Amino acid sequence: MSFATQMRNAFKALASPKVNAPAFDAVTFDSAVMNTYGRFPLALERGQGCRVWDTDGQEYLDFVAGIATCTLGHGHPALVEAVTQQMQKLHHVSNLYYILEQGQLAQWLTQHSCADKAFFCNSGAEANEAAIKLARKYAHVKRDIEHPFILTAYAIFHGLTLATVTATGQP
Ligand SMILES: Cc1ncc(COP(=O)(O)O)c(C=O)c1O
Repeated sequence: MSFATQMRNAFKALASPKVNAPAFDAVTFDSAVMNTYGRFPLALERGQGCRVWDTDGQEYLDFVAGIATCTLGHGHPALVEAVTQQMQKLHHVSNLYYILEQGQLAQWLTQHSCADKAFFCNSGAEANEAAIKLARKYAHVKRDIEHPFILTAYAIFHGLTLATVTATGQP
């Protein structure tokens, strides 16, 4: 085998995620994970940049990007480095304490947007819950409206908490 062919095969093997990919079985998955979401019949195993691979080694372009929460792509070296460094230094400590970097990130966000303050949360549903609370507070405090109501559209998705499921307008 020529050197060029060997190199090509080596690169192909590197790019192939099939090595050590665990066998995926949707029935086993569904027997253990609560049925709260409809899923496409596709089990993703790894990603690099804007590409993802399923457990059969099939490659896809990822236009979903975690529904726009993974816009740096998968495995971005700077993000991997930053998360690794933080995990080695300090893991989760809750909102009972101050965390230096949280304040720094909030300052950066407010300096680069129209916002006065940042609110950190873990999900879209929490963000929408906060938006609902802020809208209600604004109505109470600034507009003196005792029973404000919030308009939402039918057949949309805002999350799975009670308030956001209600806002979803789906049976
Ligand atoms: C528009 C929109 N709002 C809210 C959510 C809920 O986000 P999460 O699942 O992180 O609570 C989603 C999630 O798909 C969404 O697409």
